Amino acid sequence: MAGPTIPFWQGHFDAGTIPWDRGGPGPQVAVWLDGDIPPGTRLLVPGCGSGWDVAAFARAGMTVTGVDYTPAAVAAASSLLAREGLAAEVVLADVLAWSPPRPVDAIYEQTCLCALHPDHWTRYAVQLQAWLRPGGRLFALFMQRQRPGAREGLIEGPPFHCDINAMRALLPLAAWDWPKPPYPAVPHHSGAFELAVMLTRR
Ligand SMILES: C[S@@+](CC[C@H](N)C(=O)[O-])C[C@H]1O[C@@H](n2cnc3c(N)ncnc32)[C@H](O)[C@@H]1O
Repeated sequence: MAGPTIPFWQGHFDAGTIPWDRGGPGPQVAVWLDGDIPPGTRLLVPGCGSGWDVAAFARAGMTVTGVDYTPAAVAAASSLLAREGLAAEVVLADVLAWSPPRPVDAIYEQTCLCALHPDHWTRYAVQLQAWLRPGGRLFALFMQRQRPGAREGLIEGPPFHCDINAMRALLPLAAWDWPKPPYPAVPHHSGAFELAVMLTRR
């Protein structure tokens, strides 16, 4: 399978080298919680990592499921939830194969897509569409991390750069309603940033 493996991510968690981790929920969570995601929403967080966003949504009254295939990530997220007494679920599973028991209202996608090799993006996009009920929302943070090697066609990551043109092709208008750009840029301490886009599944 192309791209990073479970041992790759597990090794990062074990060594404590998790440069993507903000040590708290992404700043866009609060923005979207302020009006776009009502309490009671059934929400998935694929590639949930340490679980900061899962905890923030659970705290705000959502019915949340985090999914991650790395045991150390699931352990960290579960322990965060237990420490805070929050009732959210964390599932150890591969997002390219797992499915919820029934479609959900919303997905919060932060740095799971950019963690997957682009060879798997089409499969992941099929999953995102299948997980959501019609009219459900995809709260997406598209990682902007251009690399010089792209000039020679090299595919480098993670994080793999989520070019907005590629995102439009991956999540096409036939299946998704896109808001008009420009989109807010959400900074990350790594120097990269994410474009925040709220899509609606048709
Ligand atoms: C860059 S980290 C981001 C974690 C979290 N979303 C955050 O922003 O802190 C990517 C996470 O996705 C998980 N991941 C990568 N590929 C996955 C897959 N195919 N299925 C499930 N989880 C995956 C990794 O284990 C890792 O925890």
